[in-house]
Amino acid sequence: MLRFLLSILFLFPAAAQDKPRIKQVPPSLTSPASGTDMFKAYCSPCHGMFAKGDGPAAPALKKAPADLTRLSARNNGRFPALKVYNIIEGDPSIPAHGSKEMPVWGEVFRSMSHNEGEIKMRLNNLTKYVESIQAK
Ligand code: HEC
Repeated sequence: MLRFLLSILFLFPAAAQDKPRIKQVPPSLTSPASGTDMFKAYCSPCHGMFAKGDGPAAPALKKAPADLTRLSARNNGRFPALKVYNIIEGDPSIPAHGSKEMPVWGEVFRSMSHNEGEIKMRLNNLTKYVESIQAK
């Protein structure tokens, strides 16, 4: 049960004047081989289709989702791959990202499969996808 509560967050279309609300639904199944598909399914609701931090669920969050195209630019032109991997997995030793609004994907992916190789493949391919969309 807890696993499902940690699942993907989705925008719940609310009445016109209501603040958008977030509804949690079980994660849809994607191919662990496709960073693009996983990003669209799991990240774009908050970070936006183009990763600029402007997804449909963003207004419902207390903290703005990061613009994921500027990670290299903000890191002297070098993509911080290990940091990104750890943030996606949900490393509790990174207190700066412990806002709790960013889901702990390591647990979500573990709820989809107990195959460690597949979980690492998801985290690796998501990290590679984020690297591929860095602003030049
Ligand atoms: C429910 C909304 C939500 C979803 C879904 C979400 N994120 Fe985030 N993410 C956030 C928020 C909010 C922050 C910034 C707040 C913080 O620092 O904790 C963030 C921060 C990040 C950061 C850190 C950026 C930095 O400036 O260091 C990375 C990397 C990231 N997200 C990647 C992802 C990826 C990849 C996915 C999909 C697997 C994803 N996020 C899904 C809300 C979300």
